[in-house]
Amino acid sequence: MASITVTNLTKQFAEKTAVNAVSFELGEHEFLVLVGPSGCGKTTTLRMLAGLEPASGGDIYFGERRVNDIRPRDRNVAMVFQDYAVFPHLTVYDNIAYGLRSRGASRALIHERVTAAAKTFRIDQLLKRKPRQLSGGERQRVALSRAMVRDADLFLYDEPLSNLDAQLRHQAREDIVALHNQKQKPSVYVTHDQSEAMAMGDRIAVMRDGKIEQIGAGGDLYKSPANLFVAYFIGTPSINLFDVTIEVEADEFYAVNPGLRVRLPAEIRDALQTYVGAPVKMGLRPEDLHSPKLAPFAVTEFNQIRGIVNVIEPSSTGCAVYLSTIEGVPQDFTATFRTRLPATYLEKEIPLALHLEKAHFFDPQSGLSLLKR
Ligand SMILES: Nc1ncnc2c1ncn2[C@@H]1O[C@H](COP(=O)(O)OP(=O)(O)O)[C@@H](O)[C@H]1O
Ligand SMILES: [Mg+2]
Repeated sequence: MASITVTNLTKQFAEKTAVNAVSFELGEHEFLVLVGPSGCGKTTTLRMLAGLEPASGGDIYFGERRVNDIRPRDRNVAMVFQDYAVFPHLTVYDNIAYGLRSRGASRALIHERVTAAAKTFRIDQLLKRKPRQLSGGERQRVALSRAMVRDADLFLYDEPLSNLDAQLRHQAREDIVALHNQKQKPSVYVTHDQSEAMAMGDRIAVMRDGKIEQIGAGGDLYKSPANLFVAYFIGTPSINLFDVTIEVEADEFYAVNPGLRVRLPAEIRDALQTYVGAPVKMGLRPEDLHSPKLAPFAVTEFNQIRGIVNVIEPSSTGCAVYLSTIEGVPQDFTATFRTRLPATYLEKEIPLALHLEKAHFFDPQSGLSLLKR
């Protein structure tokens, strides 16, 4: 059963449509991540859910109840803000206790919850301090603890970890997910960082210009992006995009440009039929470019590309190799390998085998994916 239903939610600020007909449902225990570039409407969406910003159009339902006209404090929402607003004159303990106290919780319950939350976020040594005696990261964890102690029906997080250093951020991600699993309440988490979204979300909604471009499990967005924007936004290093023309020769389909001629799998001919002779964008994830000797498929003259190695970047899983095409229009592209490529390959020309069964194709005008994967 959906616990939160949002339909055609819209926010107009004078000329600016900050949120444009956004719709989604949130399961009872779901952790949804809204991700997208700065200015795409993430904060405004959260603020409308919390009741801090009136909607210009559309409906917000908590269960069966339409809450558009319900005041923020009567929506029973806990929100963690990006700028970790904490009360400067209150101790850490009193800051965390604030929401419980204002709702009339007993002293014993407050003590139990505050101590537990402070422990989870490792600020239990700091309960007597005032916010000015804390680092930015510690203040952020006070703000997280304050939301976590609440019995809210909906938890909202607006980029709560952007002020933490990398290590604390990883830890805090795990803490938030662990606490979410404990609380089992619907949550909406906002970030501009796609890797954070992929690490945390049950489902991810990718936003751009006030709209949801695609919503789904992280793996689905990665494997089946609905359009160029999602394809490029999700995954790091980003997907490679080649401008190609679809050509037919002896019943075989080829993707062709001045530096590339590859034969396409038979299964996708139907989908590409109307694009024969026309330009399309072919997308290949860096992990789908292989060293020919290690490719998990038969390598032929029709699934290779050559490139000059510009940079080899070691990673925890192998390396990322940044290359440029040699023939035709120069273009940069990336391959990720599960082994380290020795530095002797720098500035050398190497062949790459393309896993074309994994290729994506997009209409260059609309940006829409041509394949249903
Ligand atoms: N109070 C406001 N008045 C006018 N424009 C606003 C206001 N709040 C946000 N905006 C605009 O709405 C758009 C979305 O903003 P926001 O929701 O804060 O984006 P995000 O959180 O994704 O960075 C931006 O273009 C922003 O400038
Ligand atoms: Mg924001």
